[in-house]
Amino acid sequence: MLMVAQLVEHQVVILKVEGSIPFHQPNNKEWMNKEFEKRGYKVININLGYEDLLVKTFEEAVRYNKAHGGGGTRGARGRGTGEPGPANFVTTPSLNMYMEYLASIVHREYLTSIVEKEIDLKLIPTYCYTRKYFQGSGLTSHIDRPHNEISLTYCISGPEWEISMGENILTTKMGKAIIYKGCEILHGRSKPSPGTVILIFCGWVISDGTKLSSAYDDGENKDFYLGD
Ligand SMILES: [Fe+2]
Repeated sequence: MLMVAQLVEHQVVILKVEGSIPFHQPNNKEWMNKEFEKRGYKVININLGYEDLLVKTFEEAVRYNKAHGGGGTRGARGRGTGEPGPANFVTTPSLNMYMEYLASIVHREYLTSIVEKEIDLKLIPTYCYTRKYFQGSGLTSHIDRPHNEISLTYCISGPEWEISMGENILTTKMGKAIIYKGCEILHGRSKPSPGTVILIFCGWVISDGTKLSSAYDDGENKDFYLGD
């Protein structure tokens, strides 16, 4: 089966379908969860309404980090920049912030429950990070580390940009997010970024799954996510 889809306002437009997919119940939650199992991804509306604030806190965290010489992939929350594994696939230098304060709170307080409902699975968070891609950047097709058994990518700034999910082509844009099986489905961006794009990535493991040793990013973020 090969499908080409594009995100537009409030819906996914299917541009091309080869093979057979039962599209007869597009609004049925159970059906959609089965589609997540089958396809390995799902496009959802997020529209938090404070994306500009997420951008500002990210930019401020980057500025602070540079001003104070901080760094390291797993530095103190909100002050750690660097490249978790998948960032090695970015074709040109990007700015990355591991566990940026506001993004990680949103991950803990909102996005986890939203994604759990969308895919009908109980999840344990691992980590999140925010990445700023610059114009012309790409992302080599890859799968993620075990900490991204379930992944979310959410655009908080910038233009639409194609992303491949397996054999399918989607488009990220503000207000939309893609939930995907990071360890299973190949994903990447062969088309260069049309501009500066900032995305939030969140990771989870399935609570009764096989990757529990990666929960809370090997335990390092356990206190934060449990709210202690
Ligand atoms: Fe990835």
